[in-house]
Amino acid sequence: HPAPVDASAVLAWYDRHARDLPWRIAPADRVAGQFPDPYRVWLSEVMLQQTTVATVKSYFTRFTSLWPTVFDLAAAPLDSVLKEWAGLGYYARARNLHACARAVVNDHAGKFPATSAALQTLPGIGSYTSAAIAAICFDEPIAVLDGNLDRVLARYYAVAVPVREAKDELRAALQASVPARAGDFAQAMMDLGATICAPRAAACLLCPIQPGCIATRQGDPTRYPIKPAK
Ligand code: ADE
Repeated sequence: HPAPVDASAVLAWYDRHARDLPWRIAPADRVAGQFPDPYRVWLSEVMLQQTTVATVKSYFTRFTSLWPTVFDLAAAPLDSVLKEWAGLGYYARARNLHACARAVVNDHAGKFPATSAALQTLPGIGSYTSAAIAAICFDEPIAVLDGNLDRVLARYYAVAVPVREAKDELRAALQASVPARAGDFAQAMMDLGATICAPRAAACLLCPIQPGCIATRQGDPTRYPIKPAK
């Protein structure tokens, strides 16, 4: 079995370098045992599917000022939601967003379910989004694996095949690495993928998991992930 990622080093790095994003509790205000609002985390995760953090920020701020709670969003006319969504693309996501808000209000008394399994019963919430919300809001010890993490882990383990052929192994390795503070770990790994282990350049000198990274030891981390043959 591959060695797990050094989660303590990742969390220590996150405590110093977490990005201050509007759906997070600001680093200065973070308190152990206190978690961000599932409504805000869900909204951000849906917006962040196929849209960059830089673009999402202003949409997120606009949505949460118009509709501060899931009750407000559920009560809004679909047309208004679609209008505010313009520019984010993929209108099916906005329709699902609205349907999900209504399901949370009508079927769950306005409270997002607290497990990844239960979250997946809601419209538009699949395995990635359910894991992200469960880890970040409810501290469920679950691996949150997105495309950025595929790259980080492909490098860390020097995966010799395209990631789509190694999904199960990568997920198992990440799952085996998840510490207490699962939500902070998930967000730390996202920040690592976005700011340090970037697609075309890897700032290995700043990376908290550099000591275990096999691709760095080999000398050329950007060789990974291996591209699929056409
Ligand atoms: N991308 C997807 N989810 C994210 C999050 N919670 N923080 C930063 N980037 C993300």
